[in-house]
Amino acid sequence: MFVLQLVFVPLFFHQVMSSGSGRHSLWALANYISGTTPFPEFSVVLMLDDIQVGYFDSEIDRITRTGGGGEVDLGQEAVFVLRDIFSSMKKRLTLVKHRFNLTTGVHIQQRMTGCEVLEDGQPALIMFRDGSNGQDADSLLYNMTHFTYASGDSWEIQWDTMKKTYFQMLYSNIYLPFCVRTLQQFFEREKHLVTRRVRPRVRFITKQVVGGALVTCLATDFYPRHINLTLLRDGQPVDEGELSGGLVLPNGNGLYQVRKTLMVDDEELRRKHNYTCTTSHLSMDNRLEVSWRAEFSRSHRIHIISAPAGLLMAVMLLLLLLWWRRRYKGGTEAVTTETQESLSSEE
Ligand SMILES: *[C@@H]1O[C@H](CO)[C@@H](O)[C@H](O)[C@H]1NC(C)=O
Ligand SMILES: *[C@@H]1O[C@H](CO)[C@@H](O)[C@H](O)[C@H]1NC(C)=O
Ligand SMILES: *[C@@H]1O[C@H](CO)[C@@H](O)[C@H](O)[C@H]1NC(C)=O
Ligand SMILES: *[C@@H]1O[C@H](CO)[C@@H](O)[C@H](O)[C@H]1NC(C)=O
Repeated sequence: MFVLQLVFVPLFFHQVMSSGSGRHSLWALANYISGTTPFPEFSVVLMLDDIQVGYFDSEIDRITRTGGGGEVDLGQEAVFVLRDIFSSMKKRLTLVKHRFNLTTGVHIQQRMTGCEVLEDGQPALIMFRDGSNGQDADSLLYNMTHFTYASGDSWEIQWDTMKKTYFQMLYSNIYLPFCVRTLQQFFEREKHLVTRRVRPRVRFITKQVVGGALVTCLATDFYPRHINLTLLRDGQPVDEGELSGGLVLPNGNGLYQVRKTLMVDDEELRRKHNYTCTTSHLSMDNRLEVSWRAEFSRSHRIHIISAPAGLLMAVMLLLLLLWWRRRYKGGTEAVTTETQESLSSEE
């Protein structure tokens, strides 16, 4: 299941990520597999915003709550809709396999389908998007005023007028009200999670490199994922083109992190500018600012001296770790990973 979810990332990343400030969304991420694998033939992960709230597969044939455990009572309607998704994805993959002569091996059909509502609970959009073997196939999006259809480049499945009319009816009259109702049910239950505000921790990380230093502003452990992070040089915003990074990434604990890095060469270091990282986030009324002033000569020396010392320290820690493992053989997995994590987060 985990591996399959990863496959979703490149294909549907931008869409899952689009849900955020003010709006709320419910997405079903469905996988249909043909061929022999240890995975269920059909599985669905239900996401409320960016939080996994439910799971369904063709073997258990009911929706289980993820996180808390136990059943979710969404009624038979939800199971019916999921079974319907199952059969339509199966049909599509059969079509694709037929068209491209894919007679053997493992093939996978994926669908992301769901809806978004505005802050006041009004529906904002409903859509589905299909992929076959990791490639974009066709999609439909209804944003309450327009239907938009698209078919993938190489996996085209024709949308004729009949089919369009049928899908318009299905999506606007049946799936949309159902999806919005289901979203509200999940929202009531998970309100404490999706509406929480967690303040970022912001700091500078500097690293000596040949010809200068990499100055990174890191904001970490915040929720929700929307954040504005700007780097200032003596109070003036640094051009985004000079910066690398900036992609907001999950932190693995339900929170997010983002970093932006500026390469500062020796000459600029010598000018001893004042660098400020300024952050705004829903969790704070004011901007959070952290400053760092370049210290050319001193920081250079200190780093050269401290590099071997740091290495020595790492080697000693490693030895300690090995000793620890040997001594407490078995049952120490958790300890080891924790230590490795804290080592790697030291940069
Ligand atoms: C599929 O196989 C048939 C017969 O083997 C062949 O005529 C056809 O061109 C193939 N189609 C594709 C898309 O490769
Ligand atoms: C829906 O999409 C159409 C076409 O992309 C756009 O013109 C329209 O303004 C959108 N409506 C809403 C409510 O976003
Ligand atoms: C750097 O600039 C910020 C504002 O841009 C200011 O608050 C801070 O005191 C300055 N730091 C130093 C060390 O000059
Ligand atoms: C980020 O900046 C944009 C544009 O200035 C603003 O509309 C948005 O509300 C800001 N977001 C946050 C989380 O502060």
